[in-house]
Amino acid sequence: MRKMKYWFILFFIGVLFSGCAPQSNQEESNPFVIGFCQLGNESTWRERNTQSVMEAFESDEYRLIYKNAYQKQSEQIKALRSFIAARVDLIVLAPIVETGWETVLKEAQEANIPVLLNDRNIQIEDDSLYLTRVGGDFYQQGVKAAAYLNQKYSGSDQTISLVEIQGSPDSTPTIQRHFGFFDTLDSHLQIEVKETADGDFMVSKGKEAIDQIDKEHGLENIDVIYSHNDDMTMGILEYLEQTSITPGEDILLISVDAQQKAIDQLIAGKINCDVECNPNTGEQILAVIKLYQAGKIDEIEKSYDLKEAVFTEFDDLAKIQPRGY
Ligand code: AHR
Repeated sequence: MRKMKYWFILFFIGVLFSGCAPQSNQEESNPFVIGFCQLGNESTWRERNTQSVMEAFESDEYRLIYKNAYQKQSEQIKALRSFIAARVDLIVLAPIVETGWETVLKEAQEANIPVLLNDRNIQIEDDSLYLTRVGGDFYQQGVKAAAYLNQKYSGSDQTISLVEIQGSPDSTPTIQRHFGFFDTLDSHLQIEVKETADGDFMVSKGKEAIDQIDKEHGLENIDVIYSHNDDMTMGILEYLEQTSITPGEDILLISVDAQQKAIDQLIAGKINCDVECNPNTGEQILAVIKLYQAGKIDEIEKSYDLKEAVFTEFDDLAKIQPRGY
């Protein structure tokens, strides 16, 4: 009985002391707080991009506050203001459109909170309002898409009727993929642009856009579809399945992102060219933030373009490594 009393007292003291101990390393240390405002989750690419940023800051050294703006710039501005009010150490912003950021970025600068751009770019006179931008080279993506078409039709004098399904209006990838493409098409190609439509980077809207184009022009009169991302391309393929058109043969399909699902369709011959847009920005963002934390601001470049490839029907498709998303 005496022994039992002794063990009971020891147990009680143990419980008491464990209650006083710090609950986690995070509380003990002082994590660097990052406010991350993602523009939405319109595509599979976007989901991978969000994951990539989150994975990079998983250690106890950092605390990431995540806000999804559900495709609205006004929500992004609201999120940024809430980060400023919470006095985070740094903000990571994936801007949905290029313009309209001056006021809120000035507010962040006045509060001494640097803003790092993830993925897309912004148009701004004073570029000291953001620290750097990490993302893909959207202009080059358009260049690569056109290079495929130049190769496909090299030596041909046929008129090529083309449809362009763009991503969200006023976003960097939409603007740059368009110009990169049309600036690069060989001047000898007889291109007739039948239609330019918005598909908002979404499966459903890609499908709706091609449905509309079919009604207006008839798909039998289209030779090439240039779709600004794989999700819209998936919507287009879904639509084509209900028609007598064979994608990849009757209509050439050029897409962007190079996610696994689309690469499978390239291998199956239904997509002819898929240009990579690299969603894995997390590691490079982490590297920049480490420089910032070490006070090595001069070593931070104004822009970091990630490495990106292009996959076409002319390649040895068996060599493509799993895409990871
Ligand atoms: O900004 C990158 C683009 O946005 C990707 O190509 C697209 O899939 C995403 O939604």
